[in-house]
Amino acid sequence: MSRETAYRRAVSQTVVPSELGRIFADPSFYADPVGWHQSAAHLRRESPIAKVTLPGYEDFWAVTRHADIMEIERNPEIFTNAPYPTIGPIASRPSEAEGGSPVNTLIQMDGQEHKDHRNIVNEWFKPASIKRMNDRVGELATQFVDRMAAMGGECDFATDIAMHYPLQVILSILGLPEEDHLKMLKLTQELFGAEDPDIGRAGEDGNVLQVLLDFVGYFTTLAADRRSHPTEDLASVIANAVIDGDPIADMDVMGFYLIVATAGHDTTSNSIAGGLLALIENPDQLQLLQSDPALIDRAADELIRYVSPVKHFLRHCQAPYTVRDVTFQPGDVALLSFASANRDEDVFEDPFRLDVRRANASSHLAFGFGRHFCLGAHLARLEIRAFFGELLGRLEHIELAGPPTFVQSNLVSGPKTMPVRYRLR
Ligand code: HEM
Repeated sequence: MSRETAYRRAVSQTVVPSELGRIFADPSFYADPVGWHQSAAHLRRESPIAKVTLPGYEDFWAVTRHADIMEIERNPEIFTNAPYPTIGPIASRPSEAEGGSPVNTLIQMDGQEHKDHRNIVNEWFKPASIKRMNDRVGELATQFVDRMAAMGGECDFATDIAMHYPLQVILSILGLPEEDHLKMLKLTQELFGAEDPDIGRAGEDGNVLQVLLDFVGYFTTLAADRRSHPTEDLASVIANAVIDGDPIADMDVMGFYLIVATAGHDTTSNSIAGGLLALIENPDQLQLLQSDPALIDRAADELIRYVSPVKHFLRHCQAPYTVRDVTFQPGDVALLSFASANRDEDVFEDPFRLDVRRANASSHLAFGFGRHFCLGAHLARLEIRAFFGELLGRLEHIELAGPPTFVQSNLVSGPKTMPVRYRLR
C-alpha cells in the first residue's frame, strides 16, 4: 500500500488506530510534517493512548497527549528508559546475546546510575555556566550570518548554514579540533538519519551498528589523550570522571561523548531551519519579531514547540499503572510523542498557529520532562536566540527558492534541504 493510500485509509471513517500508528515508527511519515500532524491530531481526539501493532516492530502504546506524557515522565521508577530508548525494527536492535548496545548513554540509564552520570556534566550545562558562553555563541552566530551574506543572496539554509552552526558550538565545548568537525557532522547525520536513503548508510549495510563503532573508535583515542593530557574542556571532564571513587567505565565515557556530540547539534539545527521556515511561511510573525527584537526570548520556545525536532522517546513499564483509560502492564512499551503533545489543543490555544507572543510557549515538551529533561536545553535556547537575533536584525527580505524537503527519521527530523533567496544588510 502506498503511503498516501495508507494515510487516506487511516484518516477515513473506518479508522484503524494501529494503521495510523505507523506514523510514529515509519520514518517516511515524518518527511511530510503536515500529513503527520493531521494523523496525530486525529489520534489525540479519538484514541490518545493507542495500541500499535506493526509487522517487524514490538507492539507499543502511542501516547499523544501532553498531560499523559507528563504523568508517565513523573513516574520514572514505573516507566524506565532501559532497556532501549527509541523505536526501531526488532531486527536492527543489538541482541542481548551479542552483548546489547555497544555504548551506554544517559538516555538509556535509570535510577541512581542515571543520577550519578548526569551529575558529572550537570554543572557544565546549568544556566550560569551556559551564560559564560554567551560571547562565543554570539561570535559563531555572527560568523554564520556573515557566511550567508557572502553566499550572495541564495543558499540552502538547511545544509549550508543550520547544520554547521550548532555543531561548531558543541564541538568547541567538547574541545574537538576544528579539522574533525565535518567528520563528526557526517557520522551524526548517519546515526540519526540512518533510515533516510539520502543520508544513512543503508546502501552499505543498513545497520547503525557500524556508525556507532566508528564513533567509538574516534572517541577512544580522544579519551586516551585527555587522560594523559587533561585540559579545561568538557571531553577532559568526561574522560577523567569518577563515581564513588572509581573512574567510570570506558563504555560510559563513550556514551557521554556520543550523546553530547550527537544530541547537541542535529536537534538545534533542525529547530533553526524549521524555525526559519515557519517564519517565512508566517510573514506577519517574522515582521513582529523584527519590529520587537526583545520578543526573541519567548519566540525561541515557540519555534522549538512548533518544530519539535525530537519526535519521541520510549518508556518501558515495570509495574501495572493506569493512565487515562489504559492500564499499562510490565513489559509494555510507551512511545512518548513529544511532537504530538506540542500541538495538544488542551494546552496550547490554536496550536497549529505560529504565535511568537504565545504566553505559555515554554510549556512545550520538546525538551521532554522530569529526570531526563534535556541536558542541553539552556544551550539550545541560547544558540537559537543568538542566531535569530543576529539574522533578523540584518534581514531585509527572505523567501523560499524551492520546496523544502524533510529528513526521514522517527527520532530527530526537520528540514533536510531548504533553498532560500534573501537580502541581508
Ligand atoms: C532544540 C534542541 C534540542 C531538543 C529539542 C532536545 C530534545 C531532547 C529530548 C526530548 C530529550 C529527552 C527528554 C526526556 O526523555 O524527557 C533530550 C535529552 C537530552 N539532550 Fe537534548 N535536545 C536539544 C538540544 C540538546 C543540546 C544542545 C544538548 C547538548 C549537549 C542536548 C543533550 C541532551 C542530553 C545529554 C540528553 C539526555 C538527558 C538524560 O537522559 O538525562 N540536547 N533532549
